[in-house]
Amino acid sequence: MMSDVQVKEQVREFYDRVGWRTIGEGLYQNARYEDLRPVAREYLSRAHRRVARYLPMEGKYLLDAGSGPIQYPEYLEYSAGYRYRVCLDLSRLALREARERLAGRGLYVVGDVARLPFGEGSFAGLVSLHTIHHLPPAEHEFAFRGLYRTLQPGGRAVVVYSWGARSGLMRLAAPIVRLSAALRRAVRKLGRGEAQVGAEPSSANGNGVDRTSDQVDHAESERLLGQPGTYTFRHDYRWFRQRLEDLPGFEIRVWRSVSVEFLRAMVHPKLLGRKLLQGLSWLEERLPHWLGRHGQYPMILFSKPAASPLAGEGSGR
Ligand SMILES: C[S@@+](CC[C@H](N)C(=O)[O-])C[C@H]1O[C@@H](n2cnc3c(N)ncnc32)[C@H](O)[C@@H]1O
Repeated sequence: MMSDVQVKEQVREFYDRVGWRTIGEGLYQNARYEDLRPVAREYLSRAHRRVARYLPMEGKYLLDAGSGPIQYPEYLEYSAGYRYRVCLDLSRLALREARERLAGRGLYVVGDVARLPFGEGSFAGLVSLHTIHHLPPAEHEFAFRGLYRTLQPGGRAVVVYSWGARSGLMRLAAPIVRLSAALRRAVRKLGRGEAQVGAEPSSANGNGVDRTSDQVDHAESERLLGQPGTYTFRHDYRWFRQRLEDLPGFEIRVWRSVSVEFLRAMVHPKLLGRKLLQGLSWLEERLPHWLGRHGQYPMILFSKPAASPLAGEGSGR
């Protein structure tokens, strides 16, 4: 069994050597774990934008814990009203790439999200997206409490997590997802190929995403999805309720209710895929807590109460 230090070393090495390796212009190997087909773009974009809703619009510092290279254009919106986005990551390569995107608006720290090197009350807002699950299980609670500590009074935090194989909704959908994926593979074998089954013409929108989606080899992505990339561990909904519910403002809402496997297997441009995803986004807006609990990816929200105007004045009694 690996020690906690070895786990982190393995994760760092994975991102430095594989995950953040560039395989096209503005495109990382890591993009193969996402569904970047045009048919899913609007759905993904809505999920990315959901994060910004729960952050203070402005402030001096926004912490991005496990920032990676800031790989999607929507990510830049989170810190648009901040003087600095503080990017913390184990991967130096990620931080070098992030610097390209943030220019003078970024500060970069090589560090561990479970051992934050920042003082109490440093940040008006913070995000940590798809990162805490790379920590050994015993460090998850500690990491959340460390993030809370660095929030300033009135500050708010959004952590995007995944229930992994514990998502009730995705477990329910698994047989049909498997069947659909098998059918797609069979169709490909018959020589019709991914191009006819899943692709659609892309229309450039200037943010680089179209270019990205065109460069991803979707068959290769499906193969990679079946392989573990690096160490991950996910606690379940009950664990969060038991261990972190005392954090002020604690709430679990949906970020995105379906997995990449589901998207690839069930969503096709020629089979009303875009409409299906519009319906799903609509549902996510209406059932944020239920889908946060049972869907694939929850957002864990918490906030630090604003300082009382009377604090420090003394009651005089
Ligand atoms: C799945 S990527 C997500 C990156 C980015 N947040 C995003 O959503 O695109 C996870 C990132 O977390 C970083 N990471 C993993 N474990 C970490 C730790 N203990 N401390 C800091 N960063 C970590 C990795 O190097 C990687 O850049």
